[in-house]
Amino acid sequence: MDIVELVRAVPIFSDLDDQQIKKISEIGIHRKYQKNGIIFLEEEEGAALFIIISGKVKVVRTDDEGREVILSILGPGDFFGEMSILDGLPRSATVVSLDSSELVMIHRRDFYHLLEKAPQVAIALLRELTARLRKSDEQIKSLSLKDAIGRVANVIIQLADDLGKIKKGQVIIPDFPLQQDLANMAGTSRETISRTIHQFIREGHLEQNGNAIIITNFQKFKGMYS
Ligand code: CMP
Repeated sequence: MDIVELVRAVPIFSDLDDQQIKKISEIGIHRKYQKNGIIFLEEEEGAALFIIISGKVKVVRTDDEGREVILSILGPGDFFGEMSILDGLPRSATVVSLDSSELVMIHRRDFYHLLEKAPQVAIALLRELTARLRKSDEQIKSLSLKDAIGRVANVIIQLADDLGKIKKGQVIIPDFPLQQDLANMAGTSRETISRTIHQFIREGHLEQNGNAIIITNFQKFKGMYS
């Protein structure tokens, strides 16, 4: 796929006409990152927005002892880095490539120009930021009110919503994250993740197929743990 097609597939740009898509493809800078490559660090000054063309990234905050909490895992079609370019404050989190990824970087002034010229991008951006706030509200509820099993289930549901592919009531999450990453999302240990996933497999809620996890009846699982 050429870059124009890739930009067209990004939800916040989906309402733009061919000429506008072409313009973004021209102003966007194509970047490639290796697995575990740092795209930027928390507290750095931010001057650009990034759009994911392929691969996945994790958005993390760390404490002084190097422990990390994963705020979100983003995949193709998602964007990040908008907060600093909108409010002018430093980067709110570190973003790391989870596998080899391809991104398009758009400088702040070009993005502002686009928002002025194409209000539908601003509306789509607000819609996505609202969805992220809803997700964060769900995360706050899960981390503060649920037990470890509930928190692990919540992370699996979140990943299924963000990265899963639906097929006949089942949801397949390809390239299921590492247990340590899951632990950093659920606020628990790697051992608890391993134990809970095996429990879900024994109960028939999950199946494992190589690196993929399958939720056998997504609506039921969601109903039990949301
Ligand atoms: P920025 O602050 O520029 O740099 C870090 C980026 O991580 C931020 O912009 C957002 O794009 C992204 N980010 C921060 N918090 C979240 C979150 N809770 N969910 C998804 N993305 C986030």
